[in-house]
Amino acid sequence: MVCRVSVTSSVVRETRNSPSFAGFPKSSLRLLAGPAPFTGVAVSAGTRRCARSPVQLFRCRVGRGRDSAARVFATTATEKASPWWARQKELWTEVESEEHFYELVEQAGRERKLLLIDFYATWCHACQKVYPTLCLMAEDPKLTKNILFAKLQVDKFKTLVKKEGLTMLPVVRGYGNEGKFLFECSASPKKVKKLRQNLNTVLADTSRSYYEDPMGVLQPETEEMMARKAEKEAELKRLAKEKAALAKTMDNLASNGNGSARSVPRVKELNSKDPSKTQDPRKRMFLEKYKADYGYGGMIDELYQREIGSRLSENEHYMDYTAAALYCNSVIDNAMNELKSAVFGNPHSAAPSSVRTDTKIEAIRERILRHFNADPAEYQCVFTRGATASLKLVGETFPWSDKSRFVYLRENHNSVLGQRQYALAHGASFQAVDEDWVDTWLFGDNSESQDIDESLASPPGDGAEEPVYSLFAFPGEDNFAGVKYPLEWIHGVRAKSTENTKWFSMLDAAAFVHAQPLDLTAYPADFVSISFYKMFGYPTGLGALIIRTENVELLKKVFWGGGSVSLATSADNFHVLKCKPSERLEDGTVSFLDIIALEHGFNMVEKLGGPPMIQRHVASLADYLYEQLTSLRHSNGKPMAFVFGKHDHPNRHKVQGGIVNFELLGSDGHVLSYREIQEAAGQAGFHIRTGAECNPGACYKYLGIQDEEVERLAGTKEGCNDEVEYLTVQRTADFSSIGQLVTSQEILDAIEETKVPLGHAGEVAMKWVKVPLGSIRVSLGYMSTFEDVQALVDWVELRYRDKTSADF
Ligand SMILES: Cc1ncc(COP(=O)(O)O)c(C=O)c1O
Repeated sequence: MVCRVSVTSSVVRETRNSPSFAGFPKSSLRLLAGPAPFTGVAVSAGTRRCARSPVQLFRCRVGRGRDSAARVFATTATEKASPWWARQKELWTEVESEEHFYELVEQAGRERKLLLIDFYATWCHACQKVYPTLCLMAEDPKLTKNILFAKLQVDKFKTLVKKEGLTMLPVVRGYGNEGKFLFECSASPKKVKKLRQNLNTVLADTSRSYYEDPMGVLQPETEEMMARKAEKEAELKRLAKEKAALAKTMDNLASNGNGSARSVPRVKELNSKDPSKTQDPRKRMFLEKYKADYGYGGMIDELYQREIGSRLSENEHYMDYTAAALYCNSVIDNAMNELKSAVFGNPHSAAPSSVRTDTKIEAIRERILRHFNADPAEYQCVFTRGATASLKLVGETFPWSDKSRFVYLRENHNSVLGQRQYALAHGASFQAVDEDWVDTWLFGDNSESQDIDESLASPPGDGAEEPVYSLFAFPGEDNFAGVKYPLEWIHGVRAKSTENTKWFSMLDAAAFVHAQPLDLTAYPADFVSISFYKMFGYPTGLGALIIRTENVELLKKVFWGGGSVSLATSADNFHVLKCKPSERLEDGTVSFLDIIALEHGFNMVEKLGGPPMIQRHVASLADYLYEQLTSLRHSNGKPMAFVFGKHDHPNRHKVQGGIVNFELLGSDGHVLSYREIQEAAGQAGFHIRTGAECNPGACYKYLGIQDEEVERLAGTKEGCNDEVEYLTVQRTADFSSIGQLVTSQEILDAIEETKVPLGHAGEVAMKWVKVPLGSIRVSLGYMSTFEDVQALVDWVELRYRDKTSADF
């Protein structure tokens, strides 16, 4: 609640609609915001709880007289919790939609008032600074009698803002009768002082337009200026028409395939459309089972041929989408055509070619946020070199302290684990946890769990002066077994925050967003990392950190470079970071030609029906591959494959993504060499990945290897596919199997079913076993086909049935 009070140097008196401030000691008052038009000085500051509600108020001495009264704003503490732009909202009409904007223009005309719009952004420091001054005007009856005060959040209405040609912030604009644009003037902290005078000038004659002189004073436009403006507007209209015609021509060119796509040979049997016409009975059964889930309404075979087929032979099968999605021919063609259609300059200049690039980049940022249903007023899209760079940026700038905690799911990618070095550098502690731990921590009764680290259960920051900032990181989908983790954790992490301890969520969505929808309005993660080549293959070397706007201020940026500062000096240690959050976090020139190409990748995803359709397509293939692999048997009845992940979960589509990660087993039950399989698969035309897949947490957990055992390999292992493929470790084993080596299959079964009979002396013995340090990962994506999956199953059966490792 906001109320008006009058203040003298010793007495606080309420004047209207105010809670009782009686009895407030002077020392309890605290400066909230300075009433800029007053020349007063703050004389005391503080916060005080009164009987009914906590109240904070500002008190100042005005003018020269110590006891002269001033009107200031007092705000309850609940109000303080709301962001600055939501305060004193009863004074303003907030523009809610584009239509609403035009309605306001009309309303002002009807009421014969001047419509004054304050254009602001939530992240704009200057907008925040001048807001109390603007509020003072918006409550002045002398002005409100003739002016309708409205404000518009620019990030919510980017199209409108673009249409209106807005180029700076903060700015106010005046519209007169029939929506006639009368003036625009800067509302910067320096120039806002002239606003009252300017408004009086305009109110004296609302029939003409005004321009702002260099001193910030509005001057009536001359006849010559008006004629020039009309000419410029006509020219702009003509250019817009030409641009639209050019865009249409380019669209036609692109949809004709533009050369390379048309030269692709057609497949003999385009059979995904109609199961009954399919020759292969296995495919017929598959299509009957998965129906509309597979193939984008029967389009997949044609699509594959047009977009990918020309680059792979008929016997080649790309199954490494988690490493990189396959790029589509039409995306490359469309991106190149766009680059050929105009000159795109460095966005940091002000030349026409630079403005063109900048406009494009801003539109693409918006498109990305829209794709993830992130409100542009709440989120920022910061371009980075990839998911790893996004994670590094968070690690580097997160406000760690020696009380902070970095808690992360064990199954995170190496690039998340690397964040802990920054936490440690600031004296923070870290903890790797598993899924059950997180569920209990966030949603369970902590006191019942022995696993919960006490200091985490009771926030470490209680009682501290400054809040303690802690981070919880998890992957949307892990890149090892493709398990998807609950996005509900994001809400749980938010709820963990107290006044003294703030918890933030870091969602590593790099492996998730290719085939899963991500809705940041439903799951408002604090930080999200992505790489675009994992979404649609091209461009590479470009990713994004999607960050909640309110968090940008918290980040402690050390390095700054070209593009991220608005002001700097050479000899003194002086610099001012840019106000716009994305710009202050992007050092140097962003990869602007690649960013332009992104639009075409997103167009392709939308053409397929968006992430939900891709998810259904990929899930049908992952299900089928899992079923086929787990049903393969050697002649002696032993299984040929052991698959990791949650494919057999009753709600598997919620918890399992498009990765099928497995070990192949010999007929003797031993795990076969993944290095041998990688080589043989490559020769047979399969593009797959083997090893630990940059995810030691998940890999070693599934294989039952302890961290200390891995640490013994320091200095001997160089990479995922080097010759150090197995680790010989001691494990418990059934008494019955003593005398033989315990098989890897037994170990895998034991891990899966936790049936190793620990603690049964006499029945348990320690055995030396060879455990692999990696596995085989098949990852499916938007252009995967039934033929890819079936070919792999057939090849595995043909090559490895009834074989043991001795055969290779
Ligand atoms: C889950 C996950 N996180 C992060 C990364 C790192 O992505 P990039 O190498 O594009 O930076 C990957 C790459 O495979 C990944 O799968």
